[in-house]
Amino acid sequence: MRVIPLEDFAEDILSKAQRGLGLPTEKLSELSNLSRNDIVLARKGQATQEIIQKIAKPLGLDPSKLQSSWEKNWFPRPQKIEGLFQINTPFYEDMSVNAYLFKIPDTNQAILIDTGVDPRPVLNCLKENNLQLKATFITHTHRDHIEALDAIQDAFKESSLYAPRKEPLESAKLLSEGDLIELSSTISIRPIGTDGHSAGGMSYWIRTINGPNLCFVGDSIFAGSMGGGMISYTDALKNNKEKILTLPITTVLCPGHGPMTTVQEELKQNPFF
Ligand SMILES: [Fe+2]
Repeated sequence: MRVIPLEDFAEDILSKAQRGLGLPTEKLSELSNLSRNDIVLARKGQATQEIIQKIAKPLGLDPSKLQSSWEKNWFPRPQKIEGLFQINTPFYEDMSVNAYLFKIPDTNQAILIDTGVDPRPVLNCLKENNLQLKATFITHTHRDHIEALDAIQDAFKESSLYAPRKEPLESAKLLSEGDLIELSSTISIRPIGTDGHSAGGMSYWIRTINGPNLCFVGDSIFAGSMGGGMISYTDALKNNKEKILTLPITTVLCPGHGPMTTVQEELKQNPFF
């Protein structure tokens, strides 16, 4: 299986933090004791260790975790989970997006979380594994996460569609935090409100009997980073901190971009927290 690279490194992280805080470069220069040029270089990926150490605090980032990201010396432990398929498709230049299929234990049915941009690998994976699509869950409605939806729905007309209440989709059952979806006796799905990157983004925490404990987080959090707080950086940070990083530490996080990770690894490595 192809190793999916990390979505973000130090330069992306500090750019997201500066944008999120709405901190002008002048002000950041004053707070960090760095020149404007140092900051511009850091955003371009040309920081030095000294710049990384000085810039972290005023951006609310953890200096040693940011340094680890700058050194590129960390990668989450590879996850191999029975019944879980991570489907990674390219969508623009060197960017790629993840969709996930998860087999409902003791059935020949699967759920899909987000669709990616190309329906073919999702449909092929279902076929190769003799699986019927039971339901699709959408974390948020940015195009790269729902582009293949119509084609997949056409192929599995009986399957259900679930979307966040604050990002409704036609014909979808709309979910709010606190709902509980029980598709079979072997699986339960809890939507968690993780808006901030998008207006109504949701994560889906999936628990199985005797099986894995997974949380599909969309663009809320990435391995070693997080999605940009386009709607509210404050809410995005708070939701991740209070609702995702407080899940059991062995919970496997399945993000919309980049590799899978765990709560434990993010607590240790993610510079935003
Ligand atoms: Fe997104």
